[in-house]
This record gives sequence, structure tokens and C-alpha cells, in this order.
Amino acid sequence: MELLRKLSEAAGVPGYEEEIRGLVKAELEGLVDELRTDVLGNVVGLKRGSGKSKNKKKVMLAAHMDEIGFLVRHIEKEGFLRIEPLGGFDPRVLLAERVVVHTSSGDLLGTIGAKPVHILTEEEKKKPVEIKDLFIDLGLPAEEVKRLVRVGDTVTMRQEFVEFGEVVSGKALDDRVGIYVMIEALRKVRDHQCDIYVVATTQEEVGLRGAKVSGFEVSPDVAIALDVTLACDVPGVNEAEQITKLGQGVAIKLKDAASISNPKLVRRLVELAEGNGIKYQLEILPRGGTDAGALQLTKEGVAAATVSVPTRNVHTVVEMAHKGDIQGAIDLVAAFLEVAHEGDYTL
Ligand code: CO
Ligand code: ZN
Repeated sequence: MELLRKLSEAAGVPGYEEEIRGLVKAELEGLVDELRTDVLGNVVGLKRGSGKSKNKKKVMLAAHMDEIGFLVRHIEKEGFLRIEPLGGFDPRVLLAERVVVHTSSGDLLGTIGAKPVHILTEEEKKKPVEIKDLFIDLGLPAEEVKRLVRVGDTVTMRQEFVEFGEVVSGKALDDRVGIYVMIEALRKVRDHQCDIYVVATTQEEVGLRGAKVSGFEVSPDVAIALDVTLACDVPGVNEAEQITKLGQGVAIKLKDAASISNPKLVRRLVELAEGNGIKYQLEILPRGGTDAGALQLTKEGVAAATVSVPTRNVHTVVEMAHKGDIQGAIDLVAAFLEVAHEGDYTL
């Protein structure tokens, strides 16, 4: 899990993925035959298959590198920073967190604050906190802040990756766990006839933007997005609304708000899970989407599905995934890559 730790703790808000991209490229280097980065920052690796045919099938795995974060929007005259979100944050989970502001002269630590509860009026107490109410405190004099920080500097949450119980927990498991699954599945796969494209995408959290262009570039026959999904198996949520349960296996997505998984591809994944003794659950996510949504609509259409890792507390700094589910995802994806040259997914 050392690799997952490094991936989780690295910075990379949408559009500014350089730190995480460096890590991913270094890791893929020895595992692929070709490696390139495109204009939007997607990392595209190719591992050639053993198939002899001229039109060897192309399978694309996509996991997004970006994490939700902020840009510095405004610097108050007292030196506090106002922030613009990149991706969907629940403002309630931001208060009292630590952040890192990435400036041209280095990283600065800070805290997220708001008007203290002790001095809120009764009216103010009833209103939910909004991102515009929040500010970053760098613990520096105003002149110092103005010298070091620029509007547009990026801000990431600061959180240590930890392992406890049967789980891992930290920031940006969405979707560094998908990157981890992609890399480990590539390490695991043995003989494969199809060409495997592993793509670490950018800007997923702001609308699947990296996947849109990398799908066009690769033009795959089959695409699998690797991402987290909600595990709402917590007190107060009835069973019908839990989506997935932590520890109950890798999730094979049937639909979310951005895509309906190719049913033949879903059937294949289910057969592989059952045939290889991999615990799995089927997932229907009412809101949200993955790179599969963009990949499916590439050119004249691509057979696409999502393999998900059930995750609690998604889009917080205490995202939590089960080690068994992560391994299940790796095993399922590796098994699929070995047989991906078979079958026709045209509906
Ligand atoms: Co997300
Ligand atoms: Zn995600």
C-alpha cells in the first residue's frame, strides 16, 4: 500500500495535475512500451498485446489523477485567502481542516476557518456554512502573504494516508485508488492479446474533460473506467439507498448519471468475477459519473463500463476503502485484460 500512500498524499487539482502526474509516469515507466502526455495532461501508456492480427483490439483503462481542490480566488487585505472550488465539496466538511497552498516559491501550510461559532447570531447558526464564508489562514503577516501568494495558486487538502482495521483512509482516494488499481492490474496481467492503454486522466472532477480527449486519441474498442463509488452503508441510510457496502467486493457499475454500462461488457465482468472467485456487487449510482460517460461517446461509440471501489465519506479527507475490495478490483481488471480480445460488445 506504499504506492497508494504516495498517490493519495500527492497534490493535483483539476488542470494542475503536475505533481501526481510525475508520480504516475515514474510508476508506469517500466510497465509499458510507450508513454506520452497530451496537451490536457493525460498520461497515456501503451502495453502491446501478443495478438498477431492487424486490427488488434484496443482496451483502454482510465482512472483520473485529479482530486477536488481550490484555486486562490482573492487575497483579503488582512492576508486571509478566499477560495474557488474545483469539484464538488460539501462545505460542512471543510471547516477546521488543514490545507496546502502551492505557490511559485513553495508550499505553504494553512487552516480553513470561518466566523467562530461562539460569536454567530442565532440566525447565522441556522444557516449552513457556504464556501464563500470560508477563508484560509496561513499564519503569516498580510505583507508576507501578498508577497508569496498569487490569485490562481492551487490549494489541496492536507491529510496523512493511514491503514487501520481492514481499511485504508485518506484524501483523494477518489481517484488515486483507481490509479492504484490500474497500475497493479497492469503489473499482474500475464498473457494478453489486445493492446492495453492505461490512461491517467485529468479534470474528471470538473466534467470528464481529460477522458474526452484521451478517448479520442486512443480510440479504443473497449473502455473501463476505474473509480470510487459511494458506500453509504452507514447508520441512518436504509438498505435500498446504500449503493454499495464496504468490504462486500469490487463493484461493477450498471449505471450512474453519466453512463449506462454496456450490458454485454457487464455480463462479461460478472462471469469473470464468478469464474475467478472474486467477490463483487452490482452498483447503481443515481448521481455522479465517471470517465466511462465520456469514453462511451467517443467517435462512433465505445463499449464502456466502470469498475468501482466502494468508498465511504467520498469527497472528504477521510475517504475510506476496504483492502479486500481494492484487491478484488485489481484481480477483476487483470482477469479481464487477459480475455479482452474475445467477444463483441456491439449491441
Ligand atoms: Co470525485
Ligand atoms: Zn472519481
